[in-house]
Amino acid sequence: MFVEQKKLAQPLDPQTREALLARVRFYRDLGMTEFYRRPVDPALLATLAAAAEAPAPPPPSLPHFESPQEDQPIPPRKPFPTPPAIGAAVPAANRAAALELIREEIGDCTRCALHTGRNKLVFGDGSPTARLMFVGEGPGADEDAQGIPFVGKAGQLLNNMITAMGLKREEVYIANVVKCRPPANRTPEPEEGATCSPFLFQQIDVIRPQVLVALGATAATYLLGTRQPLAGLRGRVHAVRGTQLIVTYHPAYLLRDPRQKKEAWADLQIAMKELGLKPPARS
Ligand code: URA
Repeated sequence: MFVEQKKLAQPLDPQTREALLARVRFYRDLGMTEFYRRPVDPALLATLAAAAEAPAPPPPSLPHFESPQEDQPIPPRKPFPTPPAIGAAVPAANRAAALELIREEIGDCTRCALHTGRNKLVFGDGSPTARLMFVGEGPGADEDAQGIPFVGKAGQLLNNMITAMGLKREEVYIANVVKCRPPANRTPEPEEGATCSPFLFQQIDVIRPQVLVALGATAATYLLGTRQPLAGLRGRVHAVRGTQLIVTYHPAYLLRDPRQKKEAWADLQIAMKELGLKPPARS
């Protein structure tokens, strides 16, 4: 992430330079002072900075927290910063490449303890130009084996939810707060979530979905920077990073308590309304 102007073929434009400096300051605030001295390709930087008419809205501040279960009270914790948003909209044609760049930046990650139990890193799946993006907590055993989010039992339920909305899985984008499987599917530790979630924010900034759906309390807490019980967050539209966020139950929770599916469907209908979607006619 270290950028030396004199080594670049072309000098950075002030906007790109400021975006990079903001990112470096963010890492410094986290206590990270060692950066990869990798050559920065000005063409890629230009891609990320292209078409910047309106600056992105300021990111919410993210609390440092113990991830709550869906229905437990949450004690207050100290705030934790989110990375600065990429200031420019990435043109639709460049979004796949921009996501690849983020994946490359993650690399063969050893930034947190979760890498020790990892089989495959689970980056994300779906359309880089999706209007709807789902965010889960972290990969389970099936996802860790395949490197694709939501492919196990909870994934099958999520697929059904997507179909019920009148969409195909390939039309949406799916990612998680952490990209490596927590041992025994435990909730990610705060340090793990804080280390990995900046990459999720980058994915959101590139895709810029019209609607984000937080699946469960962990996703909601990281996305909103608000540590509230899920019940208080559901049933309305939140503004996050220039997109509309809907909070609903995690499919794994719905598998444990199917009575809540009706409530989840009500949440998805809010998302559908924002997207101008009508449920498909039943055959
Ligand atoms: N649960 C999650 O939160 N994410 C997945 O990818 C799979 C299960």
